[in-house]
Amino acid sequence: MVESDLQVLFDSDRIQQRVFELARNISRDYAGGSLHLVGVLRGAYPFTRDLSKSLLIPHTVDFISVASYGDGTESSGEIQLRRKLGHPVKGRDVLIVDDIIDTGTTLSWLVDHVQPLAPRSIRTCCLLDKPARRQFPVSTNYLGFPIDDLFVVGYGLDYQEKYRELPYISWVSPRTVVT
Ligand code: PRP
Repeated sequence: MVESDLQVLFDSDRIQQRVFELARNISRDYAGGSLHLVGVLRGAYPFTRDLSKSLLIPHTVDFISVASYGDGTESSGEIQLRRKLGHPVKGRDVLIVDDIIDTGTTLSWLVDHVQPLAPRSIRTCCLLDKPARRQFPVSTNYLGFPIDDLFVVGYGLDYQEKYRELPYISWVSPRTVVT
């Protein structure tokens, strides 16, 4: 795959505008609370950073690193914990921040992982959602954009570790992806 195969789906301005809208809603909903963002590495690092910058209320930020994909374009269906949470979540209003819900395996696993740690609340915020691919019955409390069943890269999303650094999100034609 070469960069010319990428078709822009959401440009940088559109992403930043949507992040700002999400941050405004989250700031309203968590005013007076104890908001603790948990970004899901690696894909959600730019989204978590931009969301945090746009929030209008005090909050803390931590990261967890999990992986469900191998080197290809399909989820392996198994979650590997690469980096555990760095801070206690007991009594906090945890907001799990991820870049995309595909099968739902990762989000479902994360909620089950955090729940026994006694947070005051758990909600989720995902930039993209591919409902057509769902295998676990999960949904997100805050959503950037629903998308069709397209393979997407950029703004944290990768193909074989490439394209995460792009400031926009592109989709890739299946015929250009060699698995
Ligand atoms: C991607 C993405 C989500 C997950 C979604 O992460 O960042 O966390 O897959 O897929 P699912 O709904 O089928 O679980 P990935 O495992 O590729 O790791 P990465 O964030 O390091 O790229």
